[in-house]
Amino acid sequence: MALEGRDLVSIFDLSDREIEAIFDLADEMDEHKDVGLKIADGSILCTLFYEPSTRTRLSFEAAMERLGGGVISVADASSTSVAKGETIADTVRIIESYADIIVIRHPLEGSARVAADYASVPVINAGDGAHEHPTQTLLDLYTIWREKGKFRDLSVALVGDLRYGRTVHSLAFGLARFGANVTLVSPLGLEMPAPLVERLRKEFGCTPTQCHSLADVVTDPKSLKRRKGRQKALATELLATFDAVYVTRVQKERFESDEAYQTAKQGYAITQEVLSRAQADALVMHPLPRVDELAYELDRDPRAVYFRQAAFGLPVRMALLAALLGKRPAKVKRARKGDYRPEPRREVDFRKMAQLKCPNPRCVTNHESYLRPQFTFVKHAADTVACAYCEHEVRSPLGSDERR
Ligand code: NCD
Repeated sequence: MALEGRDLVSIFDLSDREIEAIFDLADEMDEHKDVGLKIADGSILCTLFYEPSTRTRLSFEAAMERLGGGVISVADASSTSVAKGETIADTVRIIESYADIIVIRHPLEGSARVAADYASVPVINAGDGAHEHPTQTLLDLYTIWREKGKFRDLSVALVGDLRYGRTVHSLAFGLARFGANVTLVSPLGLEMPAPLVERLRKEFGCTPTQCHSLADVVTDPKSLKRRKGRQKALATELLATFDAVYVTRVQKERFESDEAYQTAKQGYAITQEVLSRAQADALVMHPLPRVDELAYELDRDPRAVYFRQAAFGLPVRMALLAALLGKRPAKVKRARKGDYRPEPRREVDFRKMAQLKCPNPRCVTNHESYLRPQFTFVKHAADTVACAYCEHEVRSPLGSDERR
């Protein structure tokens, strides 16, 4: 299926081969990123941001300008009719008559899906709460691809706030789909949500090692205790196995209290000392912005690729806009055995769901009253359904037989 006219709400909306086709296009765009190429003349992009952004919004806007198109922008939704109570559905139905494509960032999980459902033009998710950030994943994967030339059997550590960090929620699956090994390193309480780890394991055959600090090298706490004396040496061993260390900020804005945030972020800085124990050609990545988790002294280290990574946002977003607008067809190769390909969502008949509501308080369905809760079947657990918007999983009131 061509990419023209499609939405990108989740990294699961693209097949493996489509992601590779976007990378090929990004290579081409990279050659034109400074002077531009006039292929989207007359097209308009609207960036609709309900949350702060520097890189994502500006690189999308620069990308559209470089393609020769125009940009209209809402950098602060409180300056719009949102302040008067206008819904996401109505807002995008107004914007679609002014713009050919919409990029939305919103604090509620599942909000980008709502925008995509209601807008007749393509919608790109630039971050919906703690849920997903698929275009960041495209540029993260592209960075690894450019730097390492492969994904298979690479060992990648995702470090930091894996609970609220939306970039890692999309990236873990991108990496798993392309055959990389994933290690999850997070402070206590900020682990990647268990259903995501389960899905990685059951659907994509990726069983991540999970640790609570970079010094933790074994998952079994008893074994850690036994080997305490050797902990430092073991830390060296583990760190030395990573081809890339992807660090994330503790997501302050998603915490209930400042106190909880302050406790969570303690002791999480990657310093030159830590890095001295990593591979000589390991990549240090970060979606940025950083707060305290990456020392400035690292910037001079050739392994620190985070600024280059952010710069790749431009050619990758040029490629994506060009493909979704149908201005440059992405050449998608034939699927290989075992490739991931999106399948139509299998929605559960709502009449059978006994008025079940999504239990996630940050789900868009609990904030926008015109939305009817909807659930889909999940592949990795027969007795579980997922909210069709935020993908929060809940035990199915139907039991496990109804899916057939
Ligand atoms: C990330 C985001 O907004 O989720 N930033 C970005 O898009 N580059 C990461 C973050 O804010 O920590």
